[in-house]
Amino acid sequence: MKNIDLRSDTITQPTDEMIEAIVNAHNAGRFGDDVIGEDEVVNELQEKAAKILGKEAALLVTSGTQGNLISLFAQTRRGDEIVVEDRSHTFMFEAGAMASIGGLYPKPVKGERGYILPETLKSVISPDDAHYAKTSMVVIENTHNYAGGAVIRPEQVKALAAMAHDHGLKVHCDGARLFNAAIALDIPAKKLIEDVDSVQICLSKGLSAPVGSIIAGTKEFIYESHRTRKKLGGGMRQAGIIAAPGIVALEKMVDRLKDDHENAKMLYNKIKDIPNLVIEEPETNILFLGLQNLSISQMKLSEELAKENIKVYGGYGVRTRIVLNRMVDRDDIERISLALERLLK
Ligand SMILES: Cc1ncc(COP(=O)(O)O)c(C=O)c1O
Repeated sequence: MKNIDLRSDTITQPTDEMIEAIVNAHNAGRFGDDVIGEDEVVNELQEKAAKILGKEAALLVTSGTQGNLISLFAQTRRGDEIVVEDRSHTFMFEAGAMASIGGLYPKPVKGERGYILPETLKSVISPDDAHYAKTSMVVIENTHNYAGGAVIRPEQVKALAAMAHDHGLKVHCDGARLFNAAIALDIPAKKLIEDVDSVQICLSKGLSAPVGSIIAGTKEFIYESHRTRKKLGGGMRQAGIIAAPGIVALEKMVDRLKDDHENAKMLYNKIKDIPNLVIEEPETNILFLGLQNLSISQMKLSEELAKENIKVYGGYGVRTRIVLNRMVDRDDIERISLALERLLK
């Protein structure tokens, strides 16, 4: 029986075309030492990414977490305060690195479906007074993982960024799944980040590249980010091996994200009427299952699904997360929904 892995879109295997791109670049002698800027494939990826994202410059980094941290550290000073949504990746899932490595003080606030309202931001910006840490940045996560792959719209980004900039704050977008938001809204990704100072996008999630993220912003930001990346041990040598699949990811894999969104919707429609299942209609590729008054626990549900070769993260908070991805097809949706119906009866 096929293994269905719904734990994350990070489990996606590289495509044949990605592996061929590595071999072709190797045969063409295009790899070099990227720490000294000599890997042609990395340079090509960075130029392409900057163009797609509508920013002056871009930089390849090892991971989404590293990209977020570099973006924060390159634009703030130790002791500064960073406003984050209280269920955001930067706050919850980066091992506290903004504080422990960067000396930054996270100020978590409640959002609405992952979006920090501009008035909320305004209300938590510290006064310009020596008693307070300086509030110097706000982070937007788009799509928002914990809010169920929620999409933040360009007008929302604009409004929040305007409030931030009016108060001298920088704006960083954790766009690990920015292309999912763009595909859901049917707009170019750059429309979602016109007003932000820096953005991080993951090549290694639904876009299926094996490794890597991109950060983008002004030339000055990227110049500073080079040093910060080095400090974090992220200077890589023949990094074209990572960049070659990254180029395929940006060129060939963005449009297919809509398949994941359609599959998420199809699964939702099949299971939404199961009594006591708390589930919201997905906008993109992430679904959270809440179980109310059911005799089965989240952990038990994931164990039972695992017996049927269906893997989910049970007990993600108090919910089970399901992430649709390229390795899951329409037939699998049928199998997942039948298994859930049976187990949640
Ligand atoms: C919203 C969000 N931001 C950042 C990251 C970090 O990416 P990485 O796992 O590559 O460090 C993730 C990873 O799951 C994520 O979901």
